[in-house]
Amino acid sequence: MKNLRKLLAVLMAGLMILFVAGCGGGSGSSGSGSGSGAPKAASNGKKVGVAMPTQSSQRWIQDGANMKQKLEALGYTVDLQYAEDDVQAQVSQLENMITNGANCLVVASIDSSALVNVLAQAKQQNIPVVAYDRLLMDTDSVSYYATFDNKGVGVEIGKYIETKLGLKEGKGPYNIEFFAGSPDDNNAHFLNDGVFEVLKPYLDKGQLVVPSGQTDFNTICTLRWSQETAQKRMEDIISGYYTDGKKLDVVVSPFDGISYGIAAALQGAGYQVGQNWPLITGQDAELMATKNILSGKQSMTIFKDTRLLADKCVTMVQAVLEGKQPEINDTKSYNNHKVVVPSYLCTPVPVDKDNVQKVLIDSGYYTKADVGL
Ligand code: BGC
Repeated sequence: MKNLRKLLAVLMAGLMILFVAGCGGGSGSSGSGSGSGAPKAASNGKKVGVAMPTQSSQRWIQDGANMKQKLEALGYTVDLQYAEDDVQAQVSQLENMITNGANCLVVASIDSSALVNVLAQAKQQNIPVVAYDRLLMDTDSVSYYATFDNKGVGVEIGKYIETKLGLKEGKGPYNIEFFAGSPDDNNAHFLNDGVFEVLKPYLDKGQLVVPSGQTDFNTICTLRWSQETAQKRMEDIISGYYTDGKKLDVVVSPFDGISYGIAAALQGAGYQVGQNWPLITGQDAELMATKNILSGKQSMTIFKDTRLLADKCVTMVQAVLEGKQPEINDTKSYNNHKVVVPSYLCTPVPVDKDNVQKVLIDSGYYTKADVGL
């Protein structure tokens, strides 16, 4: 009996210790993510301003929604704003967030270099800034950067073309045309570098030929990643260089929206899927692009899981607001001309019709019904 009582006393003491330690852990390290009570207490009702570029493309709608939902689940108040690709509107939105007492700003910029002044205001007021997907250039007012491996996206696009065309095996020559993203978006440059890192040797050897001769970034870039601009440029290329029956084998597109513009131009010029339709790449695994991949109108895209990116970004927000270190995996690649921004790079995944099911459906990103499977 005595022994039993002793045992019970020891067990009770043990439980007390566990309980106290548990509480301490909860308030001190709310970043662990387990249990919803502790992080809420840590957030203290703080305000996070989330500035997104545009709702004209599906990915940014998902990015904004994911960020809002994940931050609110932790007890933060979220001011989510879209600037519809209007640089001045984004500046005003950020100014308002600062005036309204934001404790932290998350920014996916439209023009990466246009926010220097407003970000300096944030810094003056000790409001930390996290760059979301797109690096904020020419400023030291940025603490962390959550993104995907942007050069890696281009490398994957290049490798897809290399494999599908059998370039390593010496096949060719193939006719190819290049499109790049917006010149004011640092990601566009990284992506393009990745594409050319893989494909340049084949251009040099003549296995890839560019009938338009347009390979320079300033010629192939697409301001604001615009579908219409891309469509117009593709129309000009077709009418300028492909009227003599020359076959177009590949079009490098850095974004699903640009791929739609390219496809519209091809369709308008009488190209037909399954006959003389070229290999067309893309990025973002938008729903329409995924359907186009299944119907043969687009060959591949790059899946960037916005759920994962939001998770990583939220851990950065928590860390800066609690004076802690978030997980980062790159301290070298992202020099914004003022500072090298500590970053977390998520991994991009190439998708074509062979792995849509595995990558996009099995992961719960889309349902079979969404993509029409
Ligand atoms: C993003 C891409 C997106 C593009 C156009 C880039 O900054 O990294 O995922 O396709 O912007 O919105």
